[in-house]
Amino acid sequence: MAKSKIQFSCTACGDVTNKWSGRCDACGEWNSIVEDTPLSTGPSSASLGSSKGRTVALTDLRTEEAPPPRSTSGLVELDRVLGGGLVPASAILVGGDPGIGKSTLLLQAAAQFASNGLKTLYVSGEEASAQIRMRAQRLGLTSAPVQLATETNLRDILTTLEAERPKLAIIDSIQTMWSDNVGSAPGSVSQVRAAAHELTSFAKRKGTAVILVGHVTKDGQIAGPRVVEHMVDTVLYFEGERGHQFRILRAVKNRFGPADEIGVFEMTGKGLAEVLNPSALFLSDRGEPTAGSVVFAGIEGTRPVLTELQALVAPSPHSQPRRTVVGWDSGRLAMILAVLEARCGIPFTGLDVYLNVAGGMKINEPAADLAVAAALLSAREDAALPSDTVVFGEISLSGALRAVGQTENRLKEAQKLGFTTAIAPKGGKTPEISGITLNRMGDLTSFVGDVFGAG
Ligand code: TYD
Ligand code: MG
Repeated sequence: MAKSKIQFSCTACGDVTNKWSGRCDACGEWNSIVEDTPLSTGPSSASLGSSKGRTVALTDLRTEEAPPPRSTSGLVELDRVLGGGLVPASAILVGGDPGIGKSTLLLQAAAQFASNGLKTLYVSGEEASAQIRMRAQRLGLTSAPVQLATETNLRDILTTLEAERPKLAIIDSIQTMWSDNVGSAPGSVSQVRAAAHELTSFAKRKGTAVILVGHVTKDGQIAGPRVVEHMVDTVLYFEGERGHQFRILRAVKNRFGPADEIGVFEMTGKGLAEVLNPSALFLSDRGEPTAGSVVFAGIEGTRPVLTELQALVAPSPHSQPRRTVVGWDSGRLAMILAVLEARCGIPFTGLDVYLNVAGGMKINEPAADLAVAAALLSAREDAALPSDTVVFGEISLSGALRAVGQTENRLKEAQKLGFTTAIAPKGGKTPEISGITLNRMGDLTSFVGDVFGAG
């Protein structure tokens, strides 16, 4: 009755099926399903009955016990994204495109944690010790008390961890690790899952914090970091645009802190430098007021960040005009275009629309709606907004403007950077920030009339 041991897994999301198809039903990715060997179920059935499972009543947990202290690296941008430092026994995934700077970031973090007295082990499956030393030299970290291991066999790594008992172990990368219990090749979904499972359970059992590095993969043969997202406590992505020096470390899941928190870094010749005032950096390229450019006062996690939105609207030579977005949600753009047409009578038919968030930022907040509408109108009417103005607010399908949270923080950041006017929705509190004129509007039609003299 033994069933065939063949299964198929999606290398993008890890979904398991028993038949191949060209497109994954779970995540919609094309060409990501590959044949894979299932995990052996040996250990769980072998251990059955040998030791009694233990339970503890919730009321027996002592409340006076303070949670174990977090360790801070001293890299403010990293500590904040972690939710205020590294939690002992936690598992963290750091994903990102190859070459974005994950190894650089983590070697710097390892050196910082180790110098602060946290016993740190850096396991590399990708580079030889000599290469890591060269990188450390370039980063000026050769004297940091970090332990190094170059290893890919999971069993050997666990033995090393057991012997060394570090407080922090960094595994670079999870795709290079392989377990001899799993039949498939390193980098397959089963291997990546098995390695992540072993390492995270070691973290929980022994109180070691584990950071797993995962490359975002494009070709579909190697499992991507999404496959292990659900196994870890914290998921961070390291992002950046080609040709830009900025790198953004973004928390997309965090059991121990706010998600959506970002840390901003700049890649320099000597490694990553922290950017403590990202608004100034994102706005640094701005020149004279231009049509289509609008400054959005946003909130990323707990911190206000000003970014420039750029729109371009031009007559389309195509029967189906283009809608191209970088750094924002394309569905949301379609919604704003529809509201502008239906509620304000401003059509975009026959026009190509391009929207870009400058500096390689990605914005998820609905609070950017009004700034996007302003950029689109400014581009369409070829009328620049005054350069001392910031915009924020959510747009509803009825065309009404909805108040958003943290108005005061947004205004304070704008004031700090020399802006004097803010356009925002009506409703909510009206904070008094000296030097900022707050222009509040109830709906999109009055915004169009007031700002562009149309509508
Ligand atoms: P790396 O950390 O190796 O990327 P990942 O681990 O995500 O694949 O970073 C590689 C890139 O960073 C490479 O293009 C060189 C650049 N870099 C610098 O610009 N400055 C530096 O000090 C270092 C160490 C790397
Ligand atoms: Mg690397």
